Amino acid sequence: MPIASHPLVQQLGPNVLEEILTRQMYRYLHFTAKLEYLAINHVALGIANGDIRVPIPEDMRFDAFRIYCDEAYHAYFSVDLIRQAEKLTNFTAPETQVEPYFLSRLRALQAKHDANLASLVELVFTMRRSELVKKSLSLQIVSVGTNNCGRIANE
Ligand SMILES: [Fe+2]
Repeated sequence: MPIASHPLVQQLGPNVLEEILTRQMYRYLHFTAKLEYLAINHVALGIANGDIRVPIPEDMRFDAFRIYCDEAYHAYFSVDLIRQAEKLTNFTAPETQVEPYFLSRLRALQAKHDANLASLVELVFTMRRSELVKKSLSLQIVSVGTNNCGRIANE
C-alpha cells in the first residue's frame, strides 16, 4: 500500500501504521467477500443452471458448480481473516451493510443494454472484476510483508 511507505506516515509510528494496514486489509477482504457471493457466485450459478443466454456445454455447466464452491470458500476465507484480525488487533472491522459500488456500476451497465443481455453483461463484468482482484491481490501480498496481515495468513 503506497501510503504506508510515505515518510509522513512512517513518522506516525508502528501503531498507526498497523492500524492503516489492518483497516486496508478489512476494506479489501470485505470487498472480496461481497464480490464472491454477490457477483461471481451469481454468475457461476447462472452458468450452472443454464440461465445465461449463451449456449454452454454440459461439462462446463457442471464445472460451474465447482467454481461456485470455490468462490464460496473465498468469501468464507475472507470473512474468517477479518474475524481473526479483529481478535489479534484492537481494530474492529467496519459495518458493511452498504451496497458495494461495483454492484451499482453493474446495474448501470445493464441499464445501458437490452434487458435480454443482462446476464451476459453481468458475466463479462464479473470476469473483468475478477481479473482486477487477482492483480490487486498480488500487490496486496507484496505490500503487507511482515505485518499482522502476513502473520494472520500464516496461522
Ligand atoms: Fe475467488
